[in-house]
Amino acid sequence: MQRREGFIFLSSPGAVTPFHIDSEYNFLLQVRGSKTVSMWDPADRFVLPEEELERFYATFVHRNLPWRDVFQTTAFVLPLAPGEGLHFPVTVPHWVKNGPEVSVSFSITFRTADSERRELLYKANARLRKLGLSPHARRTVDPARPHQADRLRRGGQPETAVGSCGLQEHLIAHIRCPV
Ligand SMILES: [Fe+2]
Repeated sequence: MQRREGFIFLSSPGAVTPFHIDSEYNFLLQVRGSKTVSMWDPADRFVLPEEELERFYATFVHRNLPWRDVFQTTAFVLPLAPGEGLHFPVTVPHWVKNGPEVSVSFSITFRTADSERRELLYKANARLRKLGLSPHARRTVDPARPHQADRLRRGGQPETAVGSCGLQEHLIAHIRCPV
């Protein structure tokens, strides 16, 4: 675990954090007030194309992503009340809207050797794309889910992409913690 950080967020009623990705893992713990988080599968390349990931890592200007209304139709909409927490995998697309009260939340973020390697991969792919090539992250089989090998052999899609945490894992991490 690297670059461990903690943040306290105080935000206004109804405040919106626009659609974006972050390069850290995040555990967001709601202390007071409420939030609604819309979140997508990090491996959904309709919502988060490879090119956006490359731009984010290679030419970071800001973390916001281009928004299209159609994206909301596939969002997982997750309300957060005081005492609840949510795990954000690395570069999971999300946007957040505060409830009608002042919100206080605590965020714990960190990176890992894997997330650092992933950043290097996308920086390299951005350079290759500049040269006219069409790189893409290679999808592999998670050793913990060997049944995916059969899915891939039959032409199916794996459940997760390289370097991303599956949405199932994310939903399991939607935890309730004591206030
Ligand atoms: Fe974020």
